[in-house]
Amino acid sequence: MTEPKAILTIPGQPPIDLPIRKGTLGQDVIDIGPLGQHEHFSFDPGFTVTASCESKITYIDGDQGILLHRGYPIEELAEKSDYLETCYLLLDGNLPNAQQKAEFENIITTHTMVNRSVEQFLSGFRYDSHPMAMMCGVVGALSSFYHDSLDIADPQHRMITAHRLIAKMPTLAAMCYKHYIGQPYMYPRNELKYAENFLNMMFGTPCANRPVSPVLARAMDLLFLLHADHEQNASTSTVRLAGSSGANPFSCIAAGIAALWGPSHGGANQAVLEMLAEIGDEKHIDTFIRRAKDKNDPFRLMGFGHRVYKNFDPRAKVMKQACDNVLAELGIDNDPLLRIAKRLEQIALEDDYFVDKKLYPNVDFYSGIIMKAIGIPTEMFTVIFATGRTVGWIAHWNEMISNSYRIGRPRQLYTGERQRSITPIEQRG
Ligand code: SDX
Repeated sequence: MTEPKAILTIPGQPPIDLPIRKGTLGQDVIDIGPLGQHEHFSFDPGFTVTASCESKITYIDGDQGILLHRGYPIEELAEKSDYLETCYLLLDGNLPNAQQKAEFENIITTHTMVNRSVEQFLSGFRYDSHPMAMMCGVVGALSSFYHDSLDIADPQHRMITAHRLIAKMPTLAAMCYKHYIGQPYMYPRNELKYAENFLNMMFGTPCANRPVSPVLARAMDLLFLLHADHEQNASTSTVRLAGSSGANPFSCIAAGIAALWGPSHGGANQAVLEMLAEIGDEKHIDTFIRRAKDKNDPFRLMGFGHRVYKNFDPRAKVMKQACDNVLAELGIDNDPLLRIAKRLEQIALEDDYFVDKKLYPNVDFYSGIIMKAIGIPTEMFTVIFATGRTVGWIAHWNEMISNSYRIGRPRQLYTGERQRSITPIEQRG
C-alpha cells in the first residue's frame, strides 16, 4: 500500500510530497523533512502543532481528557497501582508481576542514600534559598559521583542511572527542605515504603520517632503517581533536547528541573496557593476573574488552562477527589483556601471567557491544596512535582537514547539586519 502523503505547493516550485505517518492513537503527522530540500523551514513557535519525536510512553487526548501511560488510563493507575509500580511500567513498558515489583522496590530502596558530600553542597546555599534552586544544583552535581556508569550507550548504565535518580530524588528533596528550615537531615529508612520514607525524611527529626500517617503516605504516593509523566511537555522536551547532545542523564534531569520551575509549568502549583492566599476571601473572586480576562492585565488564573487539554485534566479530577478524601480524613474539610478554590472553579467553569477558551482546572489546581494539607510548604510544591516527574523524564531520555536520534537543532525565521560593515566609533552618531 502506497504511503499516504500531503502535497505542498510553494509558488514557483513543483508540488512537494510530504509523507503522512500514522500513530497507534491520536493525530497523524506530516513529515516535513523534505521541506529542507526546497529552501523552506516550518514555523511553529511554542510547538503548538509540532511532534518533536515518536514515543510509546504516554498518550494524551486533550479533547476527551484521556491520559494513558503505556496504554493504562491514569484513573485506573491511580486507583489500582502505586507510584513505584507506575515507574516500572513507564520504564519497562509493561506492569510488573509480583516478583518483578518486589525486586524493583528493593532496587529503589537500596539506592536511596546519597554521598555525604551532598551535605557540603547544600551547606553552600543560603538558608532561605528556594528548594528548586538547590535541586537544580545538587541533581546536576550527582553525575560527579557516578563516573563508572555514565556510558549512555550502555543499557545497564542507563538503567542503573534511572534507578538512582528515582531512588535519590526524595532524599535530595527532603535534604533541601531540611536545609531550608535549618533542621538536621533525616536518612532514608529501608523498612519504609517510598512515599512514607519521603514524608519521614521531610517531617521526621532525630529527636523522636513519629510514625507517618498512612493517609498522608497514600496521598503523597498518589501525588507522585499523578505527576509521573505527561508526554512532551516543556520540561520533558528540555530533557530530550539536552540528552540529544549526549549530555549525561543527571545534567539532563537538572535541565528538566529548571524548565519545570516556571509558573506556566510546574511552578503553577506554588502560584495557585499564592493566588488563593492573595484572593483571601470568596468576595474577592470576581475581581480576580475580571483581571484574568483583562488582556492588559498579565494576571492569569493559575491552575487553569492547558496547551493540550481542552477538556478536564483527568489528573485534576483524581486530585480533586483525593483532596476531599485527605481533607476529610484529616478533619480539615473546611479549609478556607479549598472553599475559595472550589468557588473559583465553579465560577470559572460558568464564565463564558473560560468556557469559550476551554480553560479547565489542570493538575496544579488541586495538588497544592493536598500538599498544603499534608503540611508541605509552598516552596516545596514544585520540588514534589519534579520528584514525581523524574521517572517520566528519565523514561523519555532512555527511549530517545536507546533508539536512533540526532542532536536537536531547530532553525529560525531571521528578521534582523542584513549584512553591514562596522562604522568607526568616532563616526558613529
Ligand atoms: C503544567 O504541558 C504539560 O503537559 C504541562 C503539565 C505537565 O504535566 O507537564 O500538564 C503541567 O504545566 C500544567 C499547566 C500549569 N500552568 C498554569 O496553570 C498556569 C496558568 N495557565 C496558563 O499560563 C496557560 O493556560 C498555559 C501555559 C498552561 C497554556 O498556555 P498556552 O497553551 O500557550 O495558551 P495561551 O497562553 O496561548 O492561552 C490561550 C488563551 C489566551 O487568550 P487569547 O490570547 O487567545 O485571547 O487563553 C488565555 C490566554 O490569555 N489563557 C488564560 C489562562 N490560560 C490561558 N487566561 C486566564 N487564565 C489562564 N490560566
